[in-house]
Order: sequence, then C-alpha cells, then structure tokens
Amino acid sequence: MLRNTSTGYGQIAIFFHWTMALLIIGMLAFGLYLTTLPQTDPATFQLFQLHKSIGFVVLTLGVLRLVWRLFNPSPKLPEGMHPLEKIGAHLGHVGLYALIFAMPITGWFMVSASPWGIPTILFNVQPVPHLPVPEMLGSKEQAESFFKLLHQYGAYLLIALIVVHVAAALKHHFIARDDTLKRMVSTAPAKNDT
Ligand code: HEM
Repeated sequence: MLRNTSTGYGQIAIFFHWTMALLIIGMLAFGLYLTTLPQTDPATFQLFQLHKSIGFVVLTLGVLRLVWRLFNPSPKLPEGMHPLEKIGAHLGHVGLYALIFAMPITGWFMVSASPWGIPTILFNVQPVPHLPVPEMLGSKEQAESFFKLLHQYGAYLLIALIVVHVAAALKHHFIARDDTLKRMVSTAPAKNDT
C-alpha cells in the first residue's frame, strides 16, 4: 500500500492531496459566490452553514495531513532542479499549508466576532462554540471586519499560490518531463526508481 518515500508518495498522501485540493478549490469558488447573495435570505443562511461545515472538514483534514506528514516525510524534489527553484517550491508549499489553516481559522474568528452571534452547526448536527476574540481588536464590529479582511485577502493569496502550484506541476510534467506530477497521481514505481 505504501511506497518508499525517497521516491514517491503513498496512497494516503495522494488521498489527502486530491481530496483537499478539490475541497479547497470548491470552497474558494463557493465563498466568492456566497458574497454575491442576499444576506437576509434564509437559503443564504443554509449555504453559509454548509460553507462553514466544509471549512471545518478542511481544518480537520489539514491537521490529520500535517500529523501524517510529520511521520511520513515527503519524497525529495527532482535532482535536476535549480536550488532557487527548490527554495521557491518549499516556500510555496509552506504558504499553501499556512493558508489551509488560516482560511478556516480566520473564518471561525470572523463568525465568533460577529455582533449577530449566529451559531455554527456542523452539517446541521453539531454546534461549534465561538472562539474568544482578543479585546485588543476593539468592538465586535471592528474585530469582525478585521477577520473578514484576513479571510478575503487570504483567499486571494491562496488562489495565487494554487495557480503557481498548478503551473509548476505542469512545467515539471510537460517541459522538464520528470515524475513530479506522476508520483502525486499514482503509487506505481516511476521509470527511474531503483
Ligand atoms: C478551506 C476553508 C475556507 C475557504 C477556502 C474559504 C473561502 C472563502 C472565500 C473565498 C470567501 C469570500 C471572501 C470575500 O470575497 O469576501 C469566504 C467568505 C466567508 N467565509 Fe469562508 N472559507 C473557508 C472556511 C470558512 C470557515 C471555517 C468559516 C466559518 C466558520 C468561514 C466563514 C465565511 C464567512 C462568514 C464568509 C462571508 C464573509 C463576508 O460576509 O464577506 N469560511 N470564504
């Protein structure tokens, strides 16, 4: 089931990668769509509950993925990569991980700070408590606006990082013609595995 991590990813790492990619890209589009809807419509309320619920799924998967990764290090980057490219790749991955956590956490703080006190009920089943909001952020309205701004610009930064990440994967596959993308799709041994 699992592969030697010096050459490739295992099934669990591949599962985390594509499940989270799908959820996060979906959540970015969903979040942007939500901001165009009439806020007082009860249907909008239900869609917000779904956005928040999926956000908590992403947060949970992010924690599980990070723990998994601590015990199962990722394979090395291809040998032929320029050192600056390697630094860029590492920074990009750190940025992606940071935003995977920052998006749900800023969203959680945003709803916790809201003067409306709207509850979050995960998939209409499990209530989630509000987080304590630091007093130094001012009134509830000010704190809510602060976290809304972080959530919004975090989303724009995440979109930019995803675009660069996908472009880099395609460059590896079609221009450098190495196994970087293939090993994230399949656990089958790459042609230059020993
Ligand atoms: C992977 C996780 C998440 C992603 C990618 C995401 C993405 C987004 C995006 C792109 C927007 C639109 C931003 C804008 O243009 O203003 C948005 C709005 C929003 N999100 Fe999230 N979100 C995530 C998790 C959460 C969570 C966990 C919560 C709350 C518990 C939440 C609450 C909200 C709220 C309340 C808004 C509306 C903000 C407004 O009124 O303008 N989000 N989200």
